[in-house]
Amino acid sequence: MEKPISDLSENEAQEELNELKLLIWSADRLHHTHDISEISDGAYDREKRRLKELVDTFPKLRPQAEKILDSVGAPAASGFGKISHAIPMLSLGNAFEDGDVADFTKGIRNYLGQSADQSLAFTAEPKIDGLSLSLRYENGRLVHGATRGDGSTGEDVTENARTIADIPQVLTGAPEILEVRGEVYMSHADFATLNARQEEQGGKSFANPRNAAAGSLRQLDAEVTRARPLRFFAYSWGELSEPLAKTQFEAIERLSVLGFQTNELTALCTSVEEMIAHYRRIEEQRATLGYDIDGVVYKVNDMALQARLGFRATTPRWAIAHKFPAELAWTRLEAIDIQVGRTGALSPVARLTPVTVGGVVVSNATLHNEDYIQGRDNKGEEIRGGKEIRVGDWVQIYRAGDVIPKVADVDIRKRTGNEIPFAFPTTCPECGSEAVREEGDAVRRCTGGLICPAQAIEKLKHFVSRKAFDIDGLGAKQLEMFFEDTDLPIRTPVDIYRLEQRDGENLAKLKNRHGWGAQSAENLFAAITQKRRIPLGRMIFGLGIRHVGEVAAKDLALHFGSWADLAAAVDLAREAALAHRAADLAEEKERQAAAAEGRRARIKETRDLEVSRLEVSASARESWEDLIGIDGIGATVGLSLSDALANVEERSVIDALVHELEIEAPAAPAQESPVAGKTVVFTGKLEKMTRDEAKARAEALGAKVSGSVSKKTDILVAGPGAGSKEKKAQELGIEILDEEGWLARIALL
Ligand code: IVH
Repeated sequence: MEKPISDLSENEAQEELNELKLLIWSADRLHHTHDISEISDGAYDREKRRLKELVDTFPKLRPQAEKILDSVGAPAASGFGKISHAIPMLSLGNAFEDGDVADFTKGIRNYLGQSADQSLAFTAEPKIDGLSLSLRYENGRLVHGATRGDGSTGEDVTENARTIADIPQVLTGAPEILEVRGEVYMSHADFATLNARQEEQGGKSFANPRNAAAGSLRQLDAEVTRARPLRFFAYSWGELSEPLAKTQFEAIERLSVLGFQTNELTALCTSVEEMIAHYRRIEEQRATLGYDIDGVVYKVNDMALQARLGFRATTPRWAIAHKFPAELAWTRLEAIDIQVGRTGALSPVARLTPVTVGGVVVSNATLHNEDYIQGRDNKGEEIRGGKEIRVGDWVQIYRAGDVIPKVADVDIRKRTGNEIPFAFPTTCPECGSEAVREEGDAVRRCTGGLICPAQAIEKLKHFVSRKAFDIDGLGAKQLEMFFEDTDLPIRTPVDIYRLEQRDGENLAKLKNRHGWGAQSAENLFAAITQKRRIPLGRMIFGLGIRHVGEVAAKDLALHFGSWADLAAAVDLAREAALAHRAADLAEEKERQAAAAEGRRARIKETRDLEVSRLEVSASARESWEDLIGIDGIGATVGLSLSDALANVEERSVIDALVHELEIEAPAAPAQESPVAGKTVVFTGKLEKMTRDEAKARAEALGAKVSGSVSKKTDILVAGPGAGSKEKKAQELGIEILDEEGWLARIALL
C-alpha cells in the first residue's frame, strides 16, 4: 500500500521521486519509440499525478521533475535500419547579406585562381524547408531511400519513400546507378488539412509543415506515411555510374526529364547582381508559393569546376544558401536564468512571455553573455546604443531559421520603473564554485570542472551526441535520469561502459527497480557495446575538450594516428605550452606598459626572455611546434588540449575510458597515392593553383599538410620567394620540390 505523500520524510520523497521519474520516463520511451505500452494508460496517469503531488508537497524537489512533467514524449523512433551514404549528404554554408554573396563568389575565384573578368555562372533556386532524402536507383529501379542522418549514415525509409507520389519507382534512360537527392516537404494547404484532421481525431498536431513532413516520413508503419500528403523536389545527387550532364542546370533538366519534380524557379546567373536579383524575385513570391522556403541556394554551374572546388569538412565550396532575413517580435522579459555549459560557460537565458515569431512559439532566447546584457559587445563597444536589458523589460526577439532565437533589442520607453537590473553571478549557480572571467574572454566560466554537475552532464550529452559516440537509446533525457540515479549512476563516460558489468545485477535492477523491460535494457547494453569500437577522430571529438571541434579532432586523428601518440605528444609538449601561455601574458603586459610609456612594444624580446626563463627542453619545444604546426590546429587548440590532459580528474576519466575502447586508426586513403601518409609543407608562391586548392588536393591524396617545417616533414614544396622554411628544410635534409615537381609527383602533369 502506498504511503500518503504527506506522511513521507524528505528522504523517502526523494527516493520515490527517483523511482517515479524512471518509471514514467521508461514508459514514455517504450511508448514513443517502440509503440509498446508496458503499463496501462490509467497506471501511467496515476504515476504522473503522484509525481506532481509529490513536487507540490515537496517544492524543493520540483526542479528535478520539471522536465518530465513538461515533456511530451521521448525521442523519435530509432527502429529504422541504417543506410550508409556512398557519398556523404552535406549541408550548406550560409550567406545572410548581399555582401556575403559577393564574398562567396570572390572566394571561389580566388580558390580557382580566376580573375573577375573570366566568366563564372551559378544556378539560383529556392531553398526548400523540409527534410532531405536520398533515393538510390539501380538499373532504373528504386532500391532504397535514406534520410540524411548524420550525413554519413541515415535511416532506411525506403518503404515510406515508395508511398510518395512525386517519387518514381521506375526510371527509363537513367544511369545504371543513380542517387537522386532532394527535399521532402508538405504544402501549406495539405499541412492545414492534416492538422485539422489530427485535432479532430485527438492526435498530435504539428508546429509547422517541416515538422509535419519529418514526422510523416519517419513513421515505422509506411501506411501512415501513405496517408500523409508528402511531396518531393529533386535538386542534387549522390553516387552516379556516369555524369548526368556537364552543368548543374542541365543535370536538373535531366532529372526533370527522368520524371522528378524540379523547382521551376531555378535560374542561371552570370554575375552577383543577377544572383541577388533572382533572390529578390523569389523573396517576393515567397508568401504565395504555397510551401515553405527559407532562402535561395546558389551553385557553381560548371561540374568540372564543382569537382575542382570540392568540399570542406561538412559543406561544399561550390554552393551556399542565401537565407531570408530573420523574423522579429516583441514580448516581455520575465526572468533571466543562467545555464552552465560543457566548458563551464555561464550563459544567460531569457525567459519570455511566449510569443509567435515566424510561426513558431518562442519562450526562451539567448542573451549571449554579461556584456551583451549591459549593452556592450566583446570588444567593449556599445551595442543597441548602450541600452542595458532589465528583467521586466519589453524586448525584441530575433529568429533566423534553425538558429536559437536571441534578444535583439529593448524598448526603454516602455519602462515603468519596476524593471530590475540583472546582477550577473560570480559563482556557479549549479555547484557554487567560483565563476571567473579571464582576460580577453567574453564569457564567465565555472571553475568546478567535473565536480560541477552541469558541466559533467553537458560533457556526457556531448559524448553520446550524434557526431561523437552516437549511442542509440542514450540521449540527453536518459542521461539526466542516470546522472541522478543513486544506484546506477552515470557521471562520466567510463560509467557508460561499466553500466552492464558494474555489479552483474544491473540488468535485473533496471528491469525490476526502474520498470525497464528486459528487452530495452538488453538493447541499451547492445548499443553501448557496439560503440566500444570507435574511430579515433570521433573519440577525440567526444571528449568535449574546449576548442577541439569535429574538424580539429579529425585533423589530430589523421596526424597522430593513435590516442597513445597524441597523448604522449601533448604530455611531452606540456612545458612548452606553459611557456607559450606565460609568453602570451608577458607580451600583453609589455604591450600595456609600452602603451602607457608611449613607446613601441618589444614583443619578440619579451617572449624570448619569458620562454628561456622557463627553460623549455628542446624535445618539448619540438613536440609543441609539431602540434601547433598541424594545419588547422594552432596555439588555442594546443593549449586547451594540454590543459585538459593535465587536469588530473579529466585525465583519469580519459585513461579509464581508453581502456574500455577499441579505437580505430583513421583509414588509409582509398586510392593508392604516392604521397599518402607524407607530411607536406607548401611555401612561397604557387602558380598553377592557389594554396588552398593545393592543400585540399594533397589532403585528398592522403598527405598531411603542415604549416611549419620539422624533422617530421617529408616534402617541402617551394615556390618563388620561399624563405626560411626552405633553408630549414635544406638543413634538415628534407626533400624539396618546386611546383612542377610536386604536380608530377601527384601525377597531375
Ligand atoms: S543542395 C551538396 N539545394 O538545405 C549540397 N539543398 O542547409 C546539397 N535544401 O541538407 C544541398 N533546398 O536538405 C540544396 N535547392 C536546394 C535545397 C537544399 C533545401 C536543404 C538540404 C540541405 C540543407 C542545407
